[in-house]
Parts: sequence; C-alpha cells; structure tokens
Amino acid sequence: MNYRNATLNDIPGIAELQQKYHVLTINDEDKKDGFVTTLFSEEQFKELIEKENGVAIACDDDKIIAYVMAASWQFWSKWPLFQHMISDLPYTEYLGKVLSVENSYQYGPICIHKDYRGTDVLPNIFEFSRTQMNKRFPILITFINKINHRSYNAHTNKLGLDVIKSFEFNNNQYYELGYDTSKKTKGSEI
Ligand SMILES: CC(C)(COP(=O)(O)OP(=O)(O)OC[C@H]1O[C@@H](n2cnc3c(N)ncnc32)[C@H](O)[C@@H]1OP(=O)(O)O)[C@@H](O)C(=O)NCCC(=O)NCCS
Repeated sequence: MNYRNATLNDIPGIAELQQKYHVLTINDEDKKDGFVTTLFSEEQFKELIEKENGVAIACDDDKIIAYVMAASWQFWSKWPLFQHMISDLPYTEYLGKVLSVENSYQYGPICIHKDYRGTDVLPNIFEFSRTQMNKRFPILITFINKINHRSYNAHTNKLGLDVIKSFEFNNNQYYELGYDTSKKTKGSEI
C-alpha cells in the first residue's frame, strides 16, 4: 500500500469513492458500515489539493482505496455545519486550551473502500494525514454523526480520539472529537 498526498490527477478516483459512500448515494446495505456527509464538488477537491495539500490517499497499485481530508477552518467555512463548529470553538476546551482557528484544524471525512476495512489502512492513513498537519496545528478536531457507529468505534477505540462534546445541527446529533497531533497513531506502521 502506498500513502501519499493527492494531486489533481487523483480527483476522478477520489470522486468515485465519495459517490459510493456518500449519504445521498450510498446503497442501503453499505450504510450500516458508515457514510460520509460533507459533499465535495470537483472544484472543491481542486481547491483543497492546491491551497491546503489537504487530501491524503492510500493506493493499492494505481487504485485509490481510501482518502482523508484535512484543512484549516478557513477552508471549511463555506459549509454551514462548519460555520456552526467555528463559532463554538471559543466555548470549547481541549488539552487545557481554548480552541481557535489558529490552534486547531478540521479532519475528515475519511473514507475507506469496504474491501480494505478492518485492516491497517485506517491507522496508516490517519498517521500519514497527522504527520502532514502537525506541522501547522497542535489539535485535530472532527465530528461524527451519532448514527455512524462504525466510525465512532474506529475513531475512539482504535485511533484513540477523545469525545469533547455533543451537538445538534439540522436535526442531526453529532459527537465532536479531538486528538493531540503530537501523538503517533496507535497501530500505524508508517
Ligand atoms: C469509518 C471507517 C473509516 C473506519 O475504518 P475501518 O477500517 O472500517 O475501521 P475498523 O474496522 O478498523 O474499526 C471499526 C470498529 O467498529 C466495529 N464495527 C464494525 N462494523 C460495525 C458496525 N456496523 N457498527 C458498529 N461498529 C462496527 C469494528 O468491530 C471495529 O471495532 P473493534 O476493532 O473495536 O471491534 C470506514 O468504515 C469507512 O470508510 N466507512 C464509510 C465512510 C465513513 O463512515 N467515514 C467516516 C465518516 S465520520
């Protein structure tokens, strides 16, 4: 498996994975194993890659089998859910610090093709993304829909993220989670 930052040429492969596991287009059978909610257009993938170098991918030969997005809050601020999270940062403490757009970034979505789940792809791609972002930010922040049990288990039990709080947005219930980006990822081998 090869872990690297995505380039513009990778967009079609990433968009294919997004389509397969996005809440609006996922099939019923796959939904119980998680889904992604933030929807990227081609233009937004391009902006994330060019401005933030913010897409990590795992490739099996030349096939993209997983991606992780990560970027500054400024990048995410066009989506209403992130506007809500940004406005709440000054009221949230984690690792003894009040959160801000300077000391934290938003990680996710993460998506792994179902043939590669339950393997070391999860810790390895998380670790790859962490080592890119820890040069810029000491704290990772993310959210998980409370009905996405697999993602919750993966992020808390396996990767060791901490639940900071719960919040509601657009009639959905979410956990907000954090991670200290100076910590090497448990179970990663890269
Ligand atoms: C979420 C995701 C990245 C996790 O990676 P993964 O390789 O599947 O994670 P793992 O299988 O290593 O770990 C999942 C954990 O949940 C458990 N689990 C498996 N299926 C589950 C289910 N349907 N419901 C609840 N828990 C489940 C597993 O047992 C495992 O926990 P354990 O090792 O303590 O037993 C991956 O499933 C995925 O891409 N899902 C679709 C997109 C998605 O949900 N992205 C996250 C958005 S927040």
